[in-house]
Amino acid sequence: MSKAEELAAVSMSFSPDKFPSRPELFDFHGVSMTHYFTDNWENIQNFQARPDDILIATYPKAGTTWVSYILDLLHFGQTERQTSVPIYNRVPFLEIIVPPLYSGKDLVDNLPTSPRLIKTHYPVQFVPKSFWEQNCRVVYLARNAKDNMVSYFHFDRMNMAQPEAGDWSSYIPRFIEGKLVFGSWYDHVNNWWKKKQTYPKLHYMFYEDLVQDTGQEIDKLCGFLGLSRSDEEKRRVTDGAHFDNMKKDDMANYSTNAIMDFKISPFMRKGKVGDWKNHFSVAQSEMFDEDYKKKMTDVTLQFRTEI
Ligand code: A3P
Repeated sequence: MSKAEELAAVSMSFSPDKFPSRPELFDFHGVSMTHYFTDNWENIQNFQARPDDILIATYPKAGTTWVSYILDLLHFGQTERQTSVPIYNRVPFLEIIVPPLYSGKDLVDNLPTSPRLIKTHYPVQFVPKSFWEQNCRVVYLARNAKDNMVSYFHFDRMNMAQPEAGDWSSYIPRFIEGKLVFGSWYDHVNNWWKKKQTYPKLHYMFYEDLVQDTGQEIDKLCGFLGLSRSDEEKRRVTDGAHFDNMKKDDMANYSTNAIMDFKISPFMRKGKVGDWKNHFSVAQSEMFDEDYKKKMTDVTLQFRTEI
């Protein structure tokens, strides 16, 4: 039995209501974290990247699964693996450790693919140094703050391994203060943006562009990854990674995941730009924008909240 199959079997015996109580948020080297992403810290810091590893980095809920799915299809096409191994095992989440369910590092160590596609939500300063030393390719996907926050709110409601979401009006100040797992969205997107200026093998992309023109973003990804794919192959990836397809695909929609309660909210929720308008009141939006302007002073980094 492979490591992935072993973990999938353990996972089947779990259900969200049997999961231990929600974890506490604490300050870890200046970033809000829970122990699920720090317990393996030493091992992660000493992780040995390979030169052809591809790191997919995001703030949680920016569209990580989508871009992971796209990269997986671009590299390996539709194989038996795509129909039998959940995306979170095909593209393991490096720093997660939820015994006995998940150890991202074990999964990465046992990945049969080459290149290895590896997911992280770490802020840039937490990334194991071997990724930089090995000059690995890094794909960073960012999403506008308001939609990112809405998606994170629903995720925190349904994921038993996350701190409680609480109510929406209390969630906004926590997002603004960076009191969510993986810390401040503002620091995350800005510091990764700055990294791009000194590290050429970082491809920084936006969720809104991916929604607006998936094909064009896939072209850019192919350029960055040095992949030549026919128009037909690229079209198959674009179609395969469409929201409606991924929502139906049990290997992509997290329905096989034991720590999420789909009765509260689905993982593949809406997949839209602008859903924030259904959540923010006018006063909340104005207050948020006021604070946003003070924090997001780098004019070269611009987000779209509608398309
Ligand atoms: P919503 O909650 O706004 O629907 P992550 O993978 O980083 O956890 O991000 C999850 C978000 O990406 C969810 O956003 C999810 O619906 C969205 N998403 C996943 N696959 C998508 C796709 N194919 N097209 C558009 N959005 C997608």
